[in-house]
Amino acid sequence: MIRVGVMGACGRMGREICRTVVDDPELELVAAFDREYQGMEIGALIGRPVEGVLVETNLEKLLAETEVDVMIDFTVADAMRANVPQVLKKGIAVVTGTTGLSAEERAEMGKLAEENNTSMFHAANYAIGAVLMMKFAAEAAKYMPHVEVIELHHDKKLDAPSGTAVTTLAKIAENRTAFKQGMADEYEKIEGARGGEYEGMRVHSVRLPGFVASQEVIFGGLGQTLTIRHDSLSRESFMPGIALAAKKVRSWTGLVEDLENIL
Ligand SMILES: NC(=O)c1ccc[n+]([C@@H]2O[C@H](COP(=O)([O-])OP(=O)(O)OC[C@H]3O[C@@H](n4cnc5c(N)ncnc54)[C@H](O)[C@@H]3O)[C@@H](O)[C@H]2O)c1
Repeated sequence: MIRVGVMGACGRMGREICRTVVDDPELELVAAFDREYQGMEIGALIGRPVEGVLVETNLEKLLAETEVDVMIDFTVADAMRANVPQVLKKGIAVVTGTTGLSAEERAEMGKLAEENNTSMFHAANYAIGAVLMMKFAAEAAKYMPHVEVIELHHDKKLDAPSGTAVTTLAKIAENRTAFKQGMADEYEKIEGARGGEYEGMRVHSVRLPGFVASQEVIFGGLGQTLTIRHDSLSRESFMPGIALAAKKVRSWTGLVEDLENIL
């Protein structure tokens, strides 16, 4: 059994992750960390029988009192910046899906993992369909370099564009010579109408109740368009990838990124 702790345990993703860990015969939920719900039984919050795991808001205390093999972090960027280094310094492996950090910041944490003889895994998206969407989009860009990304998320999301959109653009950029799309003299009548820019490609963020996480990658060519779309209809879509990462993360040292690299 792999002893798992969850940071952000009381959040939307955190609760689903706690359920997944409890339901998986190879994983054991031993710790629940959050900035809220101090002392509350995690079992009561997630609707599962879990003995003796109370929500802890003091990370130092939690790490001193509980033996954790793998810590899963789904919080916010600032919390991850503050907390993940503390966990890695204890030699505990980290699986994270928290978005909003730069690739450089994650690489720094990867170095810290290496120095402490432990490991870290990060994916901007743990849903297999999203991984395939990114792969197909990168392939399509070789033949259709005019492309825009529209990502659609629930309205509680803090960062924009989504981590998945940034990763998608980075993967497309590897297969596409950077150039500015649209008219050289185009202008916006409402600021932001053309979206954000990444190497000349445009990215648009929609925030509405009802969505979990969706993305369209639209390619335009002569007399044709190609749309590659993925929808996470519920947070369950991320769970198999997260469980897999928790089981595999201790098999290397330092940082590994992206689900496709551990499948
Ligand atoms: N990689 C993926 O596949 C994927 C999928 C969905 C969401 N996400 C990311 O996961 C993260 C969480 O998303 P969510 O929808 O569950 O958000 P949420 O707001 O529902 O949950 C975040 C939790 O973190 C806790 N938290 C915040 N600051 C904290 C701190 N300083 N210390 C301890 N706990 C703290 C909050 O109390 C909350 O319970 C976000 O960064 C989101 O972008 C990633």
